Amino acid sequence: MSYVARDDRPADKADRYAEVETEILAVLDGEPDRVARMATVASMLNDAFPAFFWTGFYVVDPAKGNELVVGPYQGTLGCLRIPFGKGVCGAAAAEGRTQVVPDVHAFPGHIACDSRSASEIVVPVFDADGALIAVFDVDATETGAFDDVDARALEQLLGKVFD
Ligand code: SME
Repeated sequence: MSYVARDDRPADKADRYAEVETEILAVLDGEPDRVARMATVASMLNDAFPAFFWTGFYVVDPAKGNELVVGPYQGTLGCLRIPFGKGVCGAAAAEGRTQVVPDVHAFPGHIACDSRSASEIVVPVFDADGALIAVFDVDATETGAFDDVDARALEQLLGKVFD
């Protein structure tokens, strides 16, 4: 299947998420490989939202259990490893809850992989048994780029892709 970038997406953010979710689920239909699913989510969301500057996954390292290691992503070079509890990704992993950070410089312990990142959202990703397998991280160069609409839409999408 080939994919053509589109410039006619809905202006409303929730509508845009709904449209991209449908497309992602269609592309992934029948594909069980987790890396392929993560790579596809990162690529298609990054393409659908021009404000997304870094879009991707940090996966739980099974050898360590309490450390994240970078997974499929789109964007500039990301840090390779993040301990649970450190930075925004580590907080999402440790708490199992979505983190919406309007100003990363005001977040204690924020890890600056790229100094252009100004705001971010990190959503925990669970498997069908409810075990944490990864976190999904999106950074933007503008402050306050993410809100509850992003949180709910990404939680729903990731719940469907990794159930
Ligand atoms: N900002 C993140 C680190 C990952 S990068 O932004 C890609 C954090 O503090 O968790």
